[in-house]
Amino acid sequence: MPALGLGVFQSTAEQTADVVTTAIAAGYRLIDTAAAYFNEEQVGEGIRRSGIDREDVFVTTKLWMTDHGRDRTRKAFDASLRRLGLDRLDLYLIHWPEPASWSQTVESWLVLEELLAEGRVRAIGVCNHHPHHLRDLIDAGSVVPAVNQVELHPFFNQPRVRPFNAAHGVITQSWAPIGGGRVYNAGRPDAPHSPLEHPTITGVAERFGKSSAQVVIRWHLQHGLSVIPKSADPQRIAENIDVFDFELSADDVAAIDALGTANRAGGDPEVVDRRLHSVTIDND
Ligand SMILES: NC(=O)c1ccc[n+]([C@@H]2O[C@H](COP(=O)([O-])OP(=O)(O)OC[C@H]3O[C@@H](n4cnc5c(N)ncnc54)[C@H](OP(=O)(O)O)[C@@H]3O)[C@@H](O)[C@H]2O)c1
Repeated sequence: MPALGLGVFQSTAEQTADVVTTAIAAGYRLIDTAAAYFNEEQVGEGIRRSGIDREDVFVTTKLWMTDHGRDRTRKAFDASLRRLGLDRLDLYLIHWPEPASWSQTVESWLVLEELLAEGRVRAIGVCNHHPHHLRDLIDAGSVVPAVNQVELHPFFNQPRVRPFNAAHGVITQSWAPIGGGRVYNAGRPDAPHSPLEHPTITGVAERFGKSSAQVVIRWHLQHGLSVIPKSADPQRIAENIDVFDFELSADDVAAIDALGTANRAGGDPEVVDRRLHSVTIDND
């Protein structure tokens, strides 16, 4: 799996085919979508339009919560492949665990294991799993998830999840990697609202002649994280992959590590369930 990819959450259906074509031309080889982003069809269209060989691009999609359970999971997987126009997927992820109906999450995981064994997907994994969820899933199944994709950026750097994943051979992939999703310090006009505005990061960026986003993406990569920034803007798409000509010092990395807070941008996996995110996918 490429370490750096393009996320397409909130890329509209109208934008997404162009965004994907632009990203592939800029050098991206990993596209991260989900059934719940309602743009899988356009991701497939963008890949085909780019002219790239199917084997040279890594496609991730995700199973939505309302499709947990044995039969629904298989149907959802088939529908995602159909919408993408692919006959095989690279990575299939459980989008959220549902602690309140955990047995359904486990049932879905066991179906993902079957899909892997059948060769319909090259790797399977999860998103938003706390260490104890991951431990329960590993105990229930026979395949260790390849990836745990979690919210991770300088303002929320997951000090418990990262080492747990690493100890179990699970790749940590960062969502909202440049801090998309939430305005921090909303009540304090003088304080940074996003990691990209924080003086520690703007200072490092200035020193390297790079943008804040490039510094933050570099911070993920130097931590050994996979990172999937979203942009629908051609210039920022190019900017976000132009991160391989500089290296942060250990002190820079430590200074950015020190910006971590206890505040998530997104939901806590312990309490998120399908009632909170009331999206349903039409898989017929
Ligand atoms: N598994 C999950 O539960 C989950 C949850 C959320 C996200 N994700 C995945 O992770 C991906 C990334 O997360 P995200 O989209 O929430 O947040 P993000 O990538 O941290 O931030 C995206 C935001 O930053 C802006 N941006 C992009 N490049 C920029 C740059 N160089 N300078 C300044 N602003 C820039 C984008 O605007 P423009 O588009 O205008 O450039 C957009 O508003 C998603 O697309 C999705 O694939 C997964």
